[in-house]
Amino acid sequence: MQATYATYFVYYVLISSGFVNAFEPISTTFVVGVGVGLAAVGRTIYNYVYESCDSKWIAFNSTGLKMALDRKLFGQHVASRVIQKAVTGFMNNKNPKKPLVLSLHGWTGTGKNFASQLIAENIYKEGMASSCVHQFGTTHFLLSSQLENYKSQLQQWFKDNVTNCPRSMFIFKWMDQMHPGLIDCIKPYLGYYEYLDGVSYRQAIFIFLSNAGGEQITQVALDFWKAGRDREEIKLQHLEPALSLSVFNNKKSGLWHTRLIDKNLVDFFIPFLPLEYRHVLLCGMAEMSAKGLEPDQDVVDQMAKDMVYFPKSEKIFSLMGCKTISVKLDYYT
Ligand SMILES: *[C@@H]1O[C@H](CO)[C@@H](O)[C@H](O)[C@H]1NC(C)=O
Ligand SMILES: *[C@@H]1O[C@H](CO)[C@@H](O)[C@H](O)[C@H]1NC(C)=O
Repeated sequence: MQATYATYFVYYVLISSGFVNAFEPISTTFVVGVGVGLAAVGRTIYNYVYESCDSKWIAFNSTGLKMALDRKLFGQHVASRVIQKAVTGFMNNKNPKKPLVLSLHGWTGTGKNFASQLIAENIYKEGMASSCVHQFGTTHFLLSSQLENYKSQLQQWFKDNVTNCPRSMFIFKWMDQMHPGLIDCIKPYLGYYEYLDGVSYRQAIFIFLSNAGGEQITQVALDFWKAGRDREEIKLQHLEPALSLSVFNNKKSGLWHTRLIDKNLVDFFIPFLPLEYRHVLLCGMAEMSAKGLEPDQDVVDQMAKDMVYFPKSEKIFSLMGCKTISVKLDYYT
């Protein structure tokens, strides 16, 4: 459709400028030829200015992702590594057999949203603002009386968006609060189908965010701390039990999980560790730079000290992680 507009536009210019009349004796083939040529130029200009589904707008930068994760995602050495591997592997695979499905878990404010943003920024030139990136929160699906509507809406969205842009990214927040009916509706899109209703979803990326397993992950981090071990020694295998089927089976909120795990639809479960005081400091300094302010250790220190830490006796982990820091800094600066 974009090309058609460009073509009409070029013809409009040709006709309204008297270009066509002025060259009356010249064969129409020539004019059409010029028109087509100009349409191609128009299309190129259009693609340059407006986002489209080509490599100018969608190009994976694996070095960029690695650097962003290493430098900007604080305190998440395990998640960083898994994300990097998962996304790089998928993006370098010319012929994936299913869409990439990541499930990000952990306490509030540990960087799940931020990590999704970093992934988007290193795939889409427009980052989160790309028309190929779609975010859903529970607010999109509030009324259970509307469930059937939501389902058909979601299916239509998947279909239209992926038809327009095979390399689409869908981010679902608060998965643990999502209605099981909706999860069942999402399920087929995550699978190994070559085509679903005429559309292939194999280039798409699905990211689910939830707090499920957050308490178990925190317990592992706390055990390491109590044993005097370095946080960096925590490996994925230490956290795997915290993300196991049995954990989710016990909880109503984890029901969706069982549904997705059962079928092996989730490719990677990615644990986010609770953040400590020193990470809050790093977030604060980064946030000040992002706001265009001179990073000020004293200001950030004060802000970080006023935050709430848990467990009550040890006060190691930030209750809100790095969430709300941006707003808090406005108060302290
Ligand atoms: C990839 O990301 C790095 C780090 O942000 C950047 O320096 C580099 O220019 C990017 N490469 C491309 C091709 O955009
Ligand atoms: C793509 O999905 C979004 C939801 O994020 C929806 O609002 C939009 O209408 C969809 N686009 C198309 C072309 O259907």
